[in-house]
Amino acid sequence: MKIVKTIDEVRRQVKEWRAQGLTVGLVPTMGYLHEGHASLIDASHRDNDRTVVSDFVNPMQFGPTEDLESYPRDIEHDAKLVEEHGGDLIFNPEPEEMYHEGFSSFVDMTVLTQELCGLSRPVHFRGVCTVVSKLFNIVKPDRAYFGKKDAQQLAVIRHMVDDLNMDIEIIGCPIVRESDGLAKSSRNTYLSEAERKAALVLSQAIFLGKDMVKNGEKNCSVIIDAMKKHIEAEPLARIDYVKIVDCATMQQIGALDRPALCAIAVYIGKTRLIDNFFTEDV
Ligand code: PAF
Repeated sequence: MKIVKTIDEVRRQVKEWRAQGLTVGLVPTMGYLHEGHASLIDASHRDNDRTVVSDFVNPMQFGPTEDLESYPRDIEHDAKLVEEHGGDLIFNPEPEEMYHEGFSSFVDMTVLTQELCGLSRPVHFRGVCTVVSKLFNIVKPDRAYFGKKDAQQLAVIRHMVDDLNMDIEIIGCPIVRESDGLAKSSRNTYLSEAERKAALVLSQAIFLGKDMVKNGEKNCSVIIDAMKKHIEAEPLARIDYVKIVDCATMQQIGALDRPALCAIAVYIGKTRLIDNFFTEDV
């Protein structure tokens, strides 16, 4: 397993693999890898001959008041995890390698990004689409792997790949949870002991919503109100949103009459966490 810092080194390695007729999977990450990322690497390792993991905290997808500076980083830990899960190459560039002086081309999307996280993080998806396009152009993978925890991101990337005729298969992988239910996230490391306990309201609300859907509830407001009530009972929690949207358009719906995504974003203290379920997976 190799760690490289430059675009040229990635291209050289991937060209060599291609010359041998090997397939390539890409797992884009911002590092500080956990079992959620490991499941993406496992999936890529299963489906492809070689796996590239990008490990880059992308400044472009953070707003001015967000956690770019404090975002956790640990390349040694990441290298160990990638190696253990069968990854072959880590691309760990500096920001200057990805965004040279005078960088001025962006990938923006006018639909799908105007709801959910796009409302509270207005520059986020432009940053994600731009960096993911760049990674796709650098690695030119056959397949790329993204977690369903970032459900809106997954929908946005699928849409971008379709809009821009990118010849890459996008694979969405299930949410990985801690044993008590909390969805794995690099941002969980920000939580104090009390906040870690309080953060359980997210998964509890998700399981509550799922149960209501399983038991036949079709009215979105009834489900949302019950989930909100549960979260609001936790003093350390502050809701950003609890919404049910059409899977294809990310627009809010009133009744569960089509495949839908129930998504939540909640601040626990200063840490913003997300979780979700797809009604089709219930
Ligand atoms: O999901 C993430 O970690 C990031 O948004 C991604 C896809 C690696 C782009 O920076």
